[in-house]
Amino acid sequence: MDALLDTPTPNATGAPRLHVHPVHPATPDAQWWRTAVVYQVYPRSFADSDGDGVGDLPGITARLGHLVDLGVDAVWLSPFYRSPQVDGGYDVADYRAIDPVFGTLDDFDAMLGRAHSLGLRVIIDLVPNHTSDEHAWFREALAAAPGSPARGRYVFRPGRGATGELPPNNWHSIFGGPAWTRTTDPDGTPGEWYLHLFDTRQPDLDWGNPEVHAEFESVLRFWLDRGVDGFRVDVAHGLVKAEGLPDWDGVTSMVEGSRSDGSGPMFDQEGVHEIYRTWRRVLDTYPGERILVAEAWIDALPRIARYVRDDEMHQAFNFAFLTTPWDANRLRQSVLDSLAASDAVGAPTTWVLSNHDVVRHTARLGLTEAGSLPKGIGAGEEQPDTELGLRRARAATLLMLALPGVSYLYQGEELGLPEHTTMPDEARQDPAWFRTGGAETGRDGCRVPLPWEAGAPAHGFSPSGRSWLPQPASFARHALDAQRGVAGSTYELYRQALGLRRHLALGAGSLDCVDLEGTAPSEAVVLRNGELVVLTAFGPDPVVLPEGCDVLLASGSLATDERGRLLLPPDTTAWVLPAARHLPRARGAQG
Ligand code: NOJ
Ligand code: MG
Repeated sequence: MDALLDTPTPNATGAPRLHVHPVHPATPDAQWWRTAVVYQVYPRSFADSDGDGVGDLPGITARLGHLVDLGVDAVWLSPFYRSPQVDGGYDVADYRAIDPVFGTLDDFDAMLGRAHSLGLRVIIDLVPNHTSDEHAWFREALAAAPGSPARGRYVFRPGRGATGELPPNNWHSIFGGPAWTRTTDPDGTPGEWYLHLFDTRQPDLDWGNPEVHAEFESVLRFWLDRGVDGFRVDVAHGLVKAEGLPDWDGVTSMVEGSRSDGSGPMFDQEGVHEIYRTWRRVLDTYPGERILVAEAWIDALPRIARYVRDDEMHQAFNFAFLTTPWDANRLRQSVLDSLAASDAVGAPTTWVLSNHDVVRHTARLGLTEAGSLPKGIGAGEEQPDTELGLRRARAATLLMLALPGVSYLYQGEELGLPEHTTMPDEARQDPAWFRTGGAETGRDGCRVPLPWEAGAPAHGFSPSGRSWLPQPASFARHALDAQRGVAGSTYELYRQALGLRRHLALGAGSLDCVDLEGTAPSEAVVLRNGELVVLTAFGPDPVVLPEGCDVLLASGSLATDERGRLLLPPDTTAWVLPAARHLPRARGAQG
């Protein structure tokens, strides 16, 4: 720690003083992917152009202006490939074709061209762990004999037991039930089993097979040649399985998996890294900083950092941050640990609070156990306090957007959209709901089509008023047109935050940890990025802001006490510029 920086400045007025401890240096002139804000589009639910009730590529193209107005740098699209849509398109039947429900390759090119002309980069989703059972390779494999090259692209094994009646090992599918399904031979007798970490219709590929490597390099080039700026790599920690596929008694789950040490035989094996080094070399032959983003549910930050070493991927989602409960000490520690782990390998930290797999943070933060991560919320489960959840979600986002590094936003969070927590069971589509026999509510509640216009059919999602998942009545209040230009709306808060973040170059900024005199560490997270101090109050009492500070933005209303001091209420974040006399100058402040 720098002793000089820690020297409190004199203070005659009784207003609290600040002490700062440097944590992370600024990265001026950083490449775009080190500082960007990326907006995730879930194509089925963004905007429907043709009235079939499912979002599509022309719908996205028509609404790209929204992302520009909001002020993001890039968009990541969840899969739009040809697929039976058993898992919302994460079951790919053809990696080089667009599913008719989303449009055509021409529609894709038009979307990409329009995005680029608006200055937005485009990241697409690559699903290399498994294909759909409708993929030509899997159909061929089923028709071929055991031991054939066609079967060698997947993980087929004979069963255990006297007649092969037991699965080859004890692994569980992440969506529930066994991770193995038995095939039937052409003569009708039971045959080999195949591995699927996810749905039975998502067979895992065998990444020990060079043909699989060659195919995915070719797929990468197919999309790079069309001009995409990068790939979000699905289940990036799962491609390589431990030799011999040993039994495993740990938990196999997307989310709980992340809370283990990541040592299960199906995840985070050393062999995955060579794959990403090879892909990095492919990307680096293209101009313009094309990137790889790891979706790897591993909790241990130093393990996650290994995916973003110099010669591997560029970004890896920080799910440890996403799963941190609403607690000042734990959130502060999560930020500090995250930066330490990514700094150790020279990579940016990739912050995220919501995506298409988790209960929206507006709902998570309104639960009794604030920030816990249930697997969906149904009508029979604890209902979040939506007002409290939204207040905290706005505070959490403002905290996140002040941090150096990359941030990902999930469509609808800029509208403060709630989770749909009372969806009728008949409407559900998530395979996790079906495979667990309803024990897991699943992810449909965060995937509901967006409300664009209050009062329009399907709240402006679709011209026909159709919507593949039902929208709750509360969506009317959250529609974009009900928030645009409305001071204090969540949309305007996001827009202002993104504008200031860009103006102050916060993505490339430094980070200091700040102690605020008179406020216990459990009551507030106080950090400084360059000159900007970000304070999040957790309660029970309001935080007294340093005297004379300039409040640039706040996630809720501030109050004033009888001495005229500004008060930051619990569950609120403020971005402030402290009066110069309270602080020594920030180190390495960015322009
Ligand atoms: C992670 C994706 O985000 C999720 O939606 C999907 O179900 C699984 N991977 C399987 O592809
Ligand atoms: Mg459509």
